Amino acid sequence: MFHHDARFLIASHLENQHPPDSPVAGFATFRFEVEPDMEDEDEPVAYLYELHVSPQSKQKGVGSLLLRGVEAIGSHWSMKKVMLTVLTVNVNAIKFYARLDYTIDPTSWIASHPLITTAPRSEAPAEDDEQDPLGPEDRDIDYLILSKILPSSTNSA
Ligand SMILES: CC(C)(COP(=O)(O)OP(=O)(O)OC[C@H]1O[C@@H](n2cnc3c(N)ncnc32)[C@H](O)[C@@H]1OP(=O)(O)O)[C@@H](O)C(=O)NCCC(=O)NCCS
Repeated sequence: MFHHDARFLIASHLENQHPPDSPVAGFATFRFEVEPDMEDEDEPVAYLYELHVSPQSKQKGVGSLLLRGVEAIGSHWSMKKVMLTVLTVNVNAIKFYARLDYTIDPTSWIASHPLITTAPRSEAPAEDDEQDPLGPEDRDIDYLILSKILPSSTNSA
């Protein structure tokens, strides 16, 4: 969270209208990063590291507000997409991201989940690509990589 490249969005209650313990309703942490896509090409992305809404503020649109804020900032700075990881057991968060049109990224080790759509993947790997015999279960992978392509006036591809 305290990485020097981390950026924060904080949603706070209006003055004098917040619960006694804290004015903060939720926050998002993200970084501008470059991630390899399926063709190993570098893609600029806004990578979401944390998204938390306080218990009193859940299901009131705060999470969507923060995520849309990250999307708007990413789009403004010509990021191709927003990416994030979510634990497969965190079904509430997966439903939330699915509701906001996130899909399983082509780079996710786990390629399908009953609660969320999988983004189209490229065709079968070329014949000389090395096949990895290990699946996600062999590697104890318990998270999905999700993403959403961003609109951008300067995204030409
Ligand atoms: C996941 C989380 C960020 C959602 O924030 P939120 O402010 O409650 O979500 P919103 O009110 O903006 O909901 C947006 C949509 O997602 C849906 N949604 C939100 N929480 C949901 C849940 N638990 N189950 C099903 N759908 C859910 C809402 O119904 C809403 O859909 P609608 O537009 O049809 O009404 C929040 O629950 C949270 O902080 N969870 C704990 C931390 C966490 O798991 N973070 C994600 C880590 S990857």
